[in-house]
Amino acid sequence: MKISGWKKWALAALGLFVLGTGVATLVAAPKHNPDLRNQNPIVSEAGDKILRKACFDCHSSETHWPWYSNVPPVSLLVALHVKEGREHLNFSKWDTRPQEKKAKRLQKALHEIREGEMPEGTYLIMHPEARLTKEEVDTLTQEVARVYGEEYTKPPKKKDHDHKEGEEHEKGEKHEEEEHDEE
Ligand code: HEC
Repeated sequence: MKISGWKKWALAALGLFVLGTGVATLVAAPKHNPDLRNQNPIVSEAGDKILRKACFDCHSSETHWPWYSNVPPVSLLVALHVKEGREHLNFSKWDTRPQEKKAKRLQKALHEIREGEMPEGTYLIMHPEARLTKEEVDTLTQEVARVYGEEYTKPPKKKDHDHKEGEEHEKGEKHEEEEHDEE
């Protein structure tokens, strides 16, 4: 079927409109910090200091938005990381979580840190201080063991964390403990 001249233009215009709205939404709405704050420690004073330094920008509503988060297209990237990060793990909602869920999230967090998955690589370029030293990782591990129990410092069971590439989109369904935490 041949698409006639005006239809082509109409389709192109529609396409541009959809794209434009999408981009505009992302550009306009990125730097939102919900009012939500956690009152109690995540782990402990020493543990929280480390999490705050390395994780809170993407995993809480206390994001410090850097100057370049105003500059497209980087702004889009930053906004997406924060949005996704908060969806997966939001320390600002910690108080509302049952104890076991907290423990399991921290178990996973420790695992991600040890595997070098977190904090995200792109973040470390601009925030070298967020790269955790061995001492910091040890401290965090000890604090999790002290407050939540030794067993949560071991790697999570395979079914809890092992995703093949390309399975990402199924996470929500496959993991009932998965957070959908945004706002
Ligand atoms: C630059 C933003 C950013 C920073 C900083 C960051 N994360 Fe993440 N984190 C993300 C994003 C985005 C995701 C979701 C995508 C993914 O799993 O890679 C995520 C996912 C996670 C998950 C869930 C993984 C899963 O499969 O459910 C854990 C746990 C986690 N991060 C822990 C941490 C910890 C601990 C720190 C600090 C040491 C940290 N993150 C720092 C962006 C960040």
